[in-house]
Amino acid sequence: MKKLSSLFLTSKKTLKKDRYIIKYFEEIKDEIICFIDDDENIKVFSSICSHFGGEIFYDKKQNILRCKWHDWKFCKNTGKCLSYPITLGLNPYEFEVKPNELKKYDIKSEDEKIYIIYERE
Ligand code: FES
Repeated sequence: MKKLSSLFLTSKKTLKKDRYIIKYFEEIKDEIICFIDDDENIKVFSSICSHFGGEIFYDKKQNILRCKWHDWKFCKNTGKCLSYPITLGLNPYEFEVKPNELKKYDIKSEDEKIYIIYERE
């Protein structure tokens, strides 16, 4: 039976400073990109390009994901390829921010941590 687990990705403070981070996780054998888009939403995808495995980065000016190798473009909301009509896109990941109590207590924590959620055996 599969269980849900979480892995620490980054803090919101770091993400706001750097705009995006890329991190490899042995547990899921995938490299992850986490970024804050123009609408201030946190997004998490695999950062391995579906074309040939190049590294994906967040292009803040164009508000899209792009590959460093051959410049394919990907949708920042769905991970779908925008350059060619292929079915393979970037894998999206579930994530959570802890503590996520901004509305409840009306406070802002500078140390909120972002975790990706994945299934394990
Ligand atoms: S490896 Fe990403 S566009 Fe070619």
